Amino acid sequence: MWIGVPKEIKNHEYRVGLPPAGVRELCEHGHKVLVEKNAGAGIGLSDEAYVQAGAEIADTAEAIWQRCDLVVKVKEPQAQEYQSLRPGQILFTYLHLAPDAAQTEGLLASGATAIAYETIVDRQGGLPLLAPMSEVAGRMSIQAAAHCLEKAQGGSGVLLGGVPGVEAANVTVIGGGVVGLNAARMALGLGANVTILDRNLGRLKYIDEVFDGRIKTLYSTVDTIEKQLEIADAVIGAVLIPGAAAPKLVQRAHLAKMKAGSVLVDVAIDQGGCFETSKATTHQAPTYVVDEVIHYCVANMPGAVARTSTFALTNATLPYVVALANKGLRALTDVPGFLPGLNVHAGQLTCEPVASAQNKPYTPAEDAIK
Ligand SMILES: NC(=O)c1ccc[n+]([C@@H]2O[C@H](COP(=O)([O-])OP(=O)(O)OC[C@H]3O[C@@H](n4cnc5c(N)ncnc54)[C@H](O)[C@@H]3O)[C@@H](O)[C@H]2O)c1
Repeated sequence: MWIGVPKEIKNHEYRVGLPPAGVRELCEHGHKVLVEKNAGAGIGLSDEAYVQAGAEIADTAEAIWQRCDLVVKVKEPQAQEYQSLRPGQILFTYLHLAPDAAQTEGLLASGATAIAYETIVDRQGGLPLLAPMSEVAGRMSIQAAAHCLEKAQGGSGVLLGGVPGVEAANVTVIGGGVVGLNAARMALGLGANVTILDRNLGRLKYIDEVFDGRIKTLYSTVDTIEKQLEIADAVIGAVLIPGAAAPKLVQRAHLAKMKAGSVLVDVAIDQGGCFETSKATTHQAPTYVVDEVIHYCVANMPGAVARTSTFALTNATLPYVVALANKGLRALTDVPGFLPGLNVHAGQLTCEPVASAQNKPYTPAEDAIK
């Protein structure tokens, strides 16, 4: 099979769908890989490295869309990309179709097969191709908080870890899932006093055991959140209710009780944010201030560390890419949890939540590929 890797065209997107090691793996399985010129240049992956791994370099994206059976990307296809798709071709990438009617229409009209990273599940019901980006965002959230706390950034001037004889900062993490645990681990490593709030008692027990009590755990209620806000130097918003908008756990009125120059990092901003005063920001202008509290609400945090994010993502996607290349669409039924990834096939919408969000007819994935 011919597998194509176009250069990402979304603004400030430097990640790439396959690194050279992934190309080599596919070539070892007898496949051919076509990589667009400079696809990995922004993160130090040269065309030479891809050629050494066995790839052919294409001068244009059109060559990839025309020649390849399977196209592997990172971000959802932009208009010029989904207009290049054709019947029988497979696209494997993040899609996030629910709020994006134009892209959904484009994919349906193309007749192609579109498989979304974000709806593939693992045996435990987790989301294995979302988790790597949550790990990155969780770890980054503490770097962001530490930076925002500096005086020059408008922060209170507190060092997360303190120094001997001086109090460390208090970091509160709301939501102890993948983002929350990674945030807490980083904050703990820097010497902060860390508290995680969650509603899942099993998860709190797990965190307590794994960290041997060094991370304080609290059941998440209005009351525990309010008390934490009063003492926190940094609060990380990391909640998720799958399929729903994030609950607003911190109201504007709460900000008055917080320390001046403290920081709210709303990682859940991609689900609408879990603080009432959150609005999405970019890496170019990541923060703003409300009632003397700094807000960091970047919706695409992993994009800032595109090299690490590329390897984290492709470590997780590669087994699925290899399965698709080896077996074609049969991989969807052979690999456990792969089928829920199918969002669009031959003009049919096969992801139920997307169909209901957009009021469109839904065809079960297993019927569509029969
Ligand atoms: N901004 C970014 O760049 C970026 C990157 C990756 C992930 N995210 C987002 O971060 C959020 C968290 O992702 P995740 O992978 O950690 O999800 P997850 O499912 O692993 O964890 C979410 C946790 O929130 C907890 N929770 C739910 N309601 C709660 C409440 N009221 N109080 C306290 N805890 C509550 C759940 O029990 C769960 O443990 C998601 O919205 C995700 O989309 C954002």
